[in-house]
Amino acid sequence: MASTHNRSIACWLLTIILCACTDAQLSLSFYDASCPSLQIIVKGVMVASTLTDPRVPARIVRLFFHDCFVNGCDASVLLADTPTFTGEQNAAPNKNSLAAFDIIDRIKFAVELVCKSTVSCADILTIAARDAVVLSGGPSWQVLVGRRDARTASQSAAESDLPSQFSGLSTLVTNFANKGLNLRDLVALSGAHTFGVARCASFRDRAYNDQNIDPLFAAILRALCPPSGGLIDIAPLDVKTPTIFDNSYYLNLVSKKGLLHSDQELFNGGPADSIVSSYAADRSIFFRDFADAMVKMGNISPLTGSSGEIRQVCSRVN
Ligand code: HEM
Repeated sequence: MASTHNRSIACWLLTIILCACTDAQLSLSFYDASCPSLQIIVKGVMVASTLTDPRVPARIVRLFFHDCFVNGCDASVLLADTPTFTGEQNAAPNKNSLAAFDIIDRIKFAVELVCKSTVSCADILTIAARDAVVLSGGPSWQVLVGRRDARTASQSAAESDLPSQFSGLSTLVTNFANKGLNLRDLVALSGAHTFGVARCASFRDRAYNDQNIDPLFAAILRALCPPSGGLIDIAPLDVKTPTIFDNSYYLNLVSKKGLLHSDQELFNGGPADSIVSSYAADRSIFFRDFADAMVKMGNISPLTGSSGEIRQVCSRVN
């Protein structure tokens, strides 16, 4: 009886281990032998680029998000349009907004010098996103690697799958659930709006027509963003500490100073309020959840094994 019981426990454990292996596919040690200096190269370029342009970290983190939400973390967002190829970069949420493609190209160039045709652009972007957060004062985490690069990209998927700043909470929850991410992940990942900027067009409605906004804050936004035009006008996503990765984004939400309508939806008397309050009260809870959620987002449908390819240049397929 006892041995049958033990055997079934062993079977059960084996199933779990096998499931975990086939499911995860990514690992911490994937490049340990083939490219031992990978981490240090990525970090070096990130440090140097950030010194010359402080906007780099936020841009890289957003690139990573926009990659992972569109057919998984497969570097599809990095593929530039050509006369015969339409990618994701000109999709509405990305056009005139995503940037720092040149930073990924620079890292890839440096990596190729020492580890030729070995490291995917998707992994480079994932490591760079972690470094961007750390360089700005945020938490660190271990990056799982082993992703491969897509040979295709989808403008229509970018338009349908990326969340909109004009959406309400329930739509945002659905957008994230479609990617296997829950309410807590949504609230934690939105904390990336602790740095970086948005263009006037992204917050104009909020400045002129929104509820649930501090009146003085709305007046400041109106001064920054005219009722029409304002193509080059921008505002920081986190009015308190625009370049530092901290929890002040959540303190802003509690005082109705979220820049985007979608930001303020996380603190509007609904189910996300208690999570926002806990992050506003304790930076370490936010840091822990953010790091966990970034790993989770990095696991969205990676290409592994013999799928896809290792691109030589991140902006085009081999
Ligand atoms: C919850 C749904 C989200 C919506 C609706 C949203 C929307 C936006 C919008 C509209 C902008 C400004 C774009 C512009 O005006 O050019 C922006 C910027 C940014 N977003 Fe999000 N976002 C969301 C979630 C996220 C997530 C999950 C991350 C990363 C984990 C992220 C990272 C960023 C960063 C860092 C910036 C600043 C980029 C820069 O300074 O260039 N966002 N987002």
